[in-house]
Amino acid sequence: MNTTFLKACKGEKTDYTPIWIMRQAGRYLPEYHTVRSKGSFLDLCKSPERAAEVTIQPVDRLGVDAAILFSDILVPLEKMGCPLEFQEKRGPVFPEPIRSKAAVEALGIPDPEDDLGYVMDTIRILRKELADRVPLIGFSGAPFTLATYLIEGGSSKNYLTTKRMMFEEPTLYGQLLDKITECTIVYLKGQVAAGAQALQVFDSWAGVLAPCDYRDFAYPYVKRIIDALKQVTDIPLIYFANQGATLLPQTKQCGADVLGFDWRIGLDEVVRQVGQSVSIQGNMDPLSLFLPADRLEDRIRDVLIQAKGARGHIFNLGHGIVPETDPEKAVLAVKLVHKISREMRA
Ligand code: CP3
Repeated sequence: MNTTFLKACKGEKTDYTPIWIMRQAGRYLPEYHTVRSKGSFLDLCKSPERAAEVTIQPVDRLGVDAAILFSDILVPLEKMGCPLEFQEKRGPVFPEPIRSKAAVEALGIPDPEDDLGYVMDTIRILRKELADRVPLIGFSGAPFTLATYLIEGGSSKNYLTTKRMMFEEPTLYGQLLDKITECTIVYLKGQVAAGAQALQVFDSWAGVLAPCDYRDFAYPYVKRIIDALKQVTDIPLIYFANQGATLLPQTKQCGADVLGFDWRIGLDEVVRQVGQSVSIQGNMDPLSLFLPADRLEDRIRDVLIQAKGARGHIFNLGHGIVPETDPEKAVLAVKLVHKISREMRA
């Protein structure tokens, strides 16, 4: 198997810098549209054979060093008892947002096999079909990020309803987050049992919090998840706090093997702050893939040079690849990361 990604996560020496791309299975790939056109996005997530097929598409086309399970961070919330829709223009919508004690108490903890068996089946199919070509990454959302969707009822501009609950009803907020955290721990343990070879926790909206609120209202739940998983598995754990540069003094203590970063901080500054304590992942602006080839090469070299002092570096974009991206640019980026990082080691 290509173990470059797993080694970099653990800070072991590699011949080159591994790369995978957030949202690497998705709408920028014409072959994704072919599969997706047969039904809704949620149907696709719930069809293990087809979900496995789109997971492998970027491995075949781009030559990335890891596959990431095709699913969505919001899928387990539906099975907690909160109906979920994906609307074409608006994105995810929870028509019955969770804002009361009764609503929190009514939420259940889904069983990975009984309730989310389609995710576990997708993982099992993928382990067979990937046949150890590259490792498979499983994932979840972080509790704060998941809570924003449940409380707001979908995506949000300023997280008014979430922050009001945090500040006006901290006990209720804590009960909701406790439940989401428990659900996430059980869900991720299920993914490990099904065969996930690394896990990433996406904290997409952590960056909207002041550092003191992140410390009190988001971080403790992330730490609980990482501590619980570390008791049962050695596979690499990646924590990605989007727009999390100002949270680094806190996030670097979370116990993950890898911290992911967006492009708003230089990886050299990250290395100054974390030293050799963790590996790092990131962090090119996804829109850099619209640069002409020669300038893209310079940009990739810059990121690799900035990450040079890291314990381990996994190249990635700072957030998801956008649907308008030319797939050939993504192919080129993977080639360049491999080539330049090999040259830098020579
Ligand atoms: O990375 C991958 O290739 C694996 C698949 C994956 C998806 N979503 C597929 C998806 C992963 C890891 C996610 C995580 C996810 N989902 C996050 C965390 C990462 C991030 O972007 O910050 C979040 C916040 C979500 C919630 C979500 N799902 C939103 C806000 C949307 C609508 C916006 C959008 O990009 O369309 C989705 C839908 C979604 N998730 C799509 C895909 C491929 C598009 C669905 C379609 O085909 O129409």
